[in-house]
Amino acid sequence: MMTRYLALAACAVTPCLACAVLHAQAPAAKKILVAHRGASAYAPEHSAEAYTLAIAQGADFVEQDLAVTKDGVLVSIHDVSLERTTNVEEVFPDRFVEEATAKGPLKRWYVNDFTLAEIKRLDAGSSFDKKFTGTRMLTFQEAIDLVRGKAGLYPELKDPEFYRRRGVDQVRLFADVVKKNGLEADPKTPLIVQSFDEATLRAVGNLLPSVPRVFLVSPQAADRLDSPAKLREIAAWATGIGPSKLIFEKLPDLVAWAHAAKLTVTPWTFRPPAPPQFPTIREEMSYFLFTLGVDALFTDNPDMFPRTK
Ligand code: G3P
Ligand code: CA
Repeated sequence: MMTRYLALAACAVTPCLACAVLHAQAPAAKKILVAHRGASAYAPEHSAEAYTLAIAQGADFVEQDLAVTKDGVLVSIHDVSLERTTNVEEVFPDRFVEEATAKGPLKRWYVNDFTLAEIKRLDAGSSFDKKFTGTRMLTFQEAIDLVRGKAGLYPELKDPEFYRRRGVDQVRLFADVVKKNGLEADPKTPLIVQSFDEATLRAVGNLLPSVPRVFLVSPQAADRLDSPAKLREIAAWATGIGPSKLIFEKLPDLVAWAHAAKLTVTPWTFRPPAPPQFPTIREEMSYFLFTLGVDALFTDNPDMFPRTK
């Protein structure tokens, strides 16, 4: 069950006899459902509606992608900037930063250039569907208050390089919120942190050593996972891996290597349309969970998660 997912994560950091017994004798563990940006197939990503629906659909964990406002508040949003998911261009037409890109100049409205009060003026629902007009972005604290006691929290510290360049200590801000809320050890609200950035996970490990840490890996970085020795090295500072689902074809032994290193495996992201070899995403998720043997997965569609084979 979920306890075992967390226990496996924890014993990757501190090997012990109990862990050896757990690995050798545990019955088939419950597979863990992580609602990706909430139930984001059905409601605006990272909205209260998406988080509430994810819990109603049985999510074990609800994901938050975290950015930092100008006044140092963690907020739930996937992107480093506001223009894809909000009406920031209408509300603050002149507050962009223009950047040169290969495709020409690009206007960006960075979260970090706006205070929380300004961000709370934005509509974060109508870009998904007009019926969600009036939806507001959530702070991490509001997300905690909504999810606490009903599911686990699965925050990702986004864009660490961007915040480092700006001198923003994203990990310290995060650790402060976690400690203030007693989330290092809340049996009713398990917490797992994720990042694509090794330095970020190492810093989280220093500040919050009891909190499991999942290393996300994109297809472009698949060589981070291409040998048992590399998995063992990752286990020195992470408790699990979160590979893109596209990596598994090239590395068919990845789950075995990870489990041998006491790392959990949580691929992303499962959403329609299913790839051609699967009739639906339910079958796709079932293949990853029960044939490949992953421990958990991220999906936009929690209601399609197969609890059994
Ligand atoms: O965190 C797992 C998965 O969400 C990583 O991709 O871009 O959706 O944050 P992204
Ligand atoms: Ca994410």
